[in-house]
Amino acid sequence: MFDLKNIINSVILGDCLEVMKKIPDDSFDMAFADPPFNLNKKYNNYKDSKGFEAYINWCNSWIREMVRITKPTGSILIHNIPKWLTYFSNILNRVAFFRHWISWNSGGAPVGKTLLPNHYGILFYTKTADYNFKFFDIRSPHSICRVCKSFLKDYGGKKDQMHPYGPLISDVWTDIHRIRHRKRRDEHPCQLPIPLLERLILLSTDEGDIVFDPFMGTGTTAVAAKRLGREFIGVEIDSNYVEISNRNIEKACETKIGNCYVSIYLNKIKTIRDTDFEQIYELGFLKNNNSYLKKGSKIKGKKLNVFKN
Ligand SMILES: C[S@@+](CC[C@H](N)C(=O)[O-])C[C@H]1O[C@@H](n2cnc3c(N)ncnc32)[C@H](O)[C@@H]1O
Repeated sequence: MFDLKNIINSVILGDCLEVMKKIPDDSFDMAFADPPFNLNKKYNNYKDSKGFEAYINWCNSWIREMVRITKPTGSILIHNIPKWLTYFSNILNRVAFFRHWISWNSGGAPVGKTLLPNHYGILFYTKTADYNFKFFDIRSPHSICRVCKSFLKDYGGKKDQMHPYGPLISDVWTDIHRIRHRKRRDEHPCQLPIPLLERLILLSTDEGDIVFDPFMGTGTTAVAAKRLGREFIGVEIDSNYVEISNRNIEKACETKIGNCYVSIYLNKIKTIRDTDFEQIYELGFLKNNNSYLKKGSKIKGKKLNVFKN
């Protein structure tokens, strides 16, 4: 068995099933997996084309291991296309507890097909059924019209009752896009955007918690964990991708405003903890992030007393 102290904040080169077998029960606060989708994607070495039964059986094995090594207060999150998530749910429903099916519309253009598959799913399960598991309210900024600066959404006629910064995040995410520009991505067919992982980490872990990822790819989960003051352990079967991960992790710096870890991408705040709003606001950091905040805005009936917009 591994002693976690010896592998903390590292990406282990190897087969995730073999590595997970050496990890003690109840080790991690969050386990996130973005496995190959079995869609014949061009990876460096890995052949993404198992037979149907072989793929499901393989997924069954690593999903059960992921649950075993997650703490009783922890969460298990799995990203994939809806087709495979229906099978994964069937496995997870036997060994963990369903919380959410997050729909991530990553911003593809609707051309070429009717009912174009245009979203990915992220299954969110907890290891235990009771409410000791970690789960935090998070917010993203309102979408604002660039010209008139008012909300783009109607909010069903309840605009006046909305939080001035932005709504609590729902289970449909449309504001995080795939990495489009070549200069911002690595040589990997399925690199996820960092703000996606940061949102999941803010939702389900505390500062200092340990995040595990059995399919590390380019290191997105580790980078997000490091930026948010969390620890990580990852596994990746391809040595080229381990190298890319290590490079990305090395470059990553904490993204903190005052005492609060926040998800920031291209100088815009993407996600904050609800409990951090007032501190971030009072430090004047929402200036360029949400022009809707107006003098006299109130939170829970209390007037915000510092206004720097
Ligand atoms: C969909 S990608 C993950 C991408 C990652 N989320 C990112 O943002 O870069 C899946 C990764 O799993 C790796 N992989 C495939 N089989 C594996 C195994 N048995 N153990 C560990 N890694 C594996 C592949 O090499 C590939 O990099």
